[in-house]
Amino acid sequence: MSDYRGARVSSDTSNFHKSKQSAAVLKHAVINSYVTPFASKTGSTSKGNRVAFVDGYAGPGRYEDGTEGSGAMLLRKAKELATLPRKVECHFVENDPETVARLRDVAAAEGEGVTYTITDENISAHLPKLLDEVKDIPLFVYLDPCGLPIPLNEVALIFDRPSGYGTPATEVLINLTAGLRRFAGMLYSDKAVANSLKRLDEAFGGEWWRDVWREKCPTKEGSEDQKMAAELAVVEGYAERLRQRAGGAGTWIIDVKPRANLKPIYYLVFASRHVDGLVTFGEATSIGLERWRKHNAEQVAEDTLFGDAADWEAVWKLEENKLKNEWVDTLAGRLTSELAKGHAFRIIDRDDEILGDDLAGVVRTMHFRAAINKVLAANKTTTNPKGVSDLYRLILMPA
Ligand SMILES: C[S@@+](CC[C@H](N)C(=O)[O-])C[C@H]1O[C@@H](n2cnc3c(N)ncnc32)[C@H](O)[C@@H]1O
Repeated sequence: MSDYRGARVSSDTSNFHKSKQSAAVLKHAVINSYVTPFASKTGSTSKGNRVAFVDGYAGPGRYEDGTEGSGAMLLRKAKELATLPRKVECHFVENDPETVARLRDVAAAEGEGVTYTITDENISAHLPKLLDEVKDIPLFVYLDPCGLPIPLNEVALIFDRPSGYGTPATEVLINLTAGLRRFAGMLYSDKAVANSLKRLDEAFGGEWWRDVWREKCPTKEGSEDQKMAAELAVVEGYAERLRQRAGGAGTWIIDVKPRANLKPIYYLVFASRHVDGLVTFGEATSIGLERWRKHNAEQVAEDTLFGDAADWEAVWKLEENKLKNEWVDTLAGRLTSELAKGHAFRIIDRDDEILGDDLAGVVRTMHFRAAINKVLAANKTTTNPKGVSDLYRLILMPA
């Protein structure tokens, strides 16, 4: 994906159970799918096979009901990856005393054999120190605040590491909570709200977002659609600035919506300077969305007391199969159109044509494989994907 810039994927689903956990399921599922290939690949050539995970707004490690938060998940990943071997070190920062105490308990119980630090400080103050500690090794930073994140200038420090061939990877995943509309209302206010607006200016790296917002939503009475468009435009502007400051990164934006016609709950912005990072993140997003659809189907079944557990799972599988068939048909059609031009090509160089806005981050290798096989069966290509793991770089030959 040579011109890969700012891909966006939506998590619309019509089956959603609103709960705190539901909202978190998608981000955790994406991280769960992403960090293993990230550490496995980047740590295969890093100094001493070391890889760093920084969790800047770490939380308690586990929810009160025992489900994994990012802390427990990253510690588990570090243990799993040790067998490869990869020496994953986890650096957690959490500035709420009660929460950090819970995180320490989780790490004491589950972090045996893992190199980790837990720092009770503001991430703003601690991030530069951590960046220095991990400067020579691949780095994945997760910033998951409840409100506004640290200033964009401080996030951009993460990319003040060397880039290019032979340098350790640098990747960031930021949760931009969709509370922007709450603050943006102040843009139309006569009251003295300069300080609050300045906090947003800092978080977004300047006043640019005010104009972007007003352009999409000129009045306080703007419609929900206008507000949503304004919020997304600001998130896109944020991602663009991050790309510029990172000196040639690509980004993904996932807008996490309960349902197609509802507002996003949060946006995940992922930035990487490496095309493999972006491709792998797209795969992780596809797996994360599937996991999320499953979670939502289960929640709806619980809410409606619809049959027993086996029923909802069978229905969900049927629905997934239908989705898969639709996506494979669409992909096969687009591959066929591209092949009809008479030139060999790779999917990675034709992401706009093959994935479009609708399938980026939604489909993954398994769907490409099925689509290429379909096109092969229809005698439109001579390329057989059997045994090929990187289908993004497979040269597809017209028949
Ligand atoms: C959304 S929660 C984190 C959830 C966790 N990352 C997960 O995925 O399971 C945000 C956490 O950041 C902490 N926090 C807020 N501001 C912070 C700051 N400036 N520095 C470090 N931690 C902060 C809060 O106390 C809260 O526990």
